[in-house]
Amino acid sequence: MLTAIQQAAATHLLTKEEIVRLLQTTEFDGPLFEAANALREKYVGNLVHLRGLIEFSNICKQNCLYCGLRRENLNVQRYRLTTEEILDFAAKARSYGYRTVVLQSGEDDYFTVDKLQYIIRKIKELDLAITLSVGEKSTDEYRAYKEAGADRYLLRIETTDQALYERLDPGMSFVNRIRCLKDLRELGYELGTGCLVGLPGQTLESLADDILFFKELNADMVGIGPFIPNPDTPLAAAAGGSFELSLKVMAITRLLLPDINIPATTAMETLNRQGRVVALQSGANVVMPNVTEGDYRKFYALYPGKICINDTPAHCRGCITGKITAIGRSISEDYGFRNKCCPL
Ligand code: 5AD
Ligand code: SF4
Ligand code: FES
Repeated sequence: MLTAIQQAAATHLLTKEEIVRLLQTTEFDGPLFEAANALREKYVGNLVHLRGLIEFSNICKQNCLYCGLRRENLNVQRYRLTTEEILDFAAKARSYGYRTVVLQSGEDDYFTVDKLQYIIRKIKELDLAITLSVGEKSTDEYRAYKEAGADRYLLRIETTDQALYERLDPGMSFVNRIRCLKDLRELGYELGTGCLVGLPGQTLESLADDILFFKELNADMVGIGPFIPNPDTPLAAAAGGSFELSLKVMAITRLLLPDINIPATTAMETLNRQGRVVALQSGANVVMPNVTEGDYRKFYALYPGKICINDTPAHCRGCITGKITAIGRSISEDYGFRNKCCPL
């Protein structure tokens, strides 16, 4: 296996069997994390890109069994930010030095194409890159957002096990999700995807397929997080994913896609107090601090124990800067698009 890791560091290839073997045992974790960290340094350098996350609506028409924002959860106070609030948070994000804002919401049809286009155009005037994360839309809608100026799109595949996907996301179609990812790619977005680790019924083989899917898609960003059971959902009693396994899925993704953007995710930090720093030292190069203000943070309750719910954006900016500089890394001052430095 050590040879497989060394070879993958040079060729960026692993077989499904090799990936499963790495996921099965802790024996090679040290060399795996070191190799991922070295590749991160070689291909994307020591800078960490910060993305200011605006959670602008927690209203969702979908019913994913794992998610606290699912429409059947009546225990969450629902909100939508006004256009003014969204633009205000974006302007503040710019003032904290962020060069990208991520506009994230549940699948909320209140935000029509016209409304979102207006918001996107206004934010572009602030000299910010925009990542959208608003779920499954039609090809025409994706095109309209791109024309308005959106740069990137995040849509996790969640799991590449089609049967599991359709069981956990009732009413949603795996084929449509793939259609969305293909559309986004063809429309010229920088494309972000990712998966949940530790879903009930998910196997190591299926996680290996997820990693190979990211490679095949040639995703520009991959966000990986542990599934954290939410007491207000049908999966309340499920076991949940581990920090360690999520970290390994992330590190192997770095081996196969050495030049992409990989966030140290909030869900990782929820399971481990040093989770983001550990992730930044095991292949990650992005952090997405929350710039939503007030009680909204608390209401955007995908899973319990979410970090920073009582902190202000200014506090988080200082906190994350301290963590990043303490490990000898610096904060990037550019937009942080995928660094196309190597012929893949
Ligand atoms: N635990 C961890 N992550 C979750 N998400 C949704 N519910 C949970 C949960 N219980 C993730 C999904 C989604 C992203 C916005 O949040 O992967 O894509
Ligand atoms: Fe809605 Fe996304 Fe949660 Fe599914 S994961 S219920 S689509 S917010
Ligand atoms: Fe929010 Fe540390 S990033 S408190």
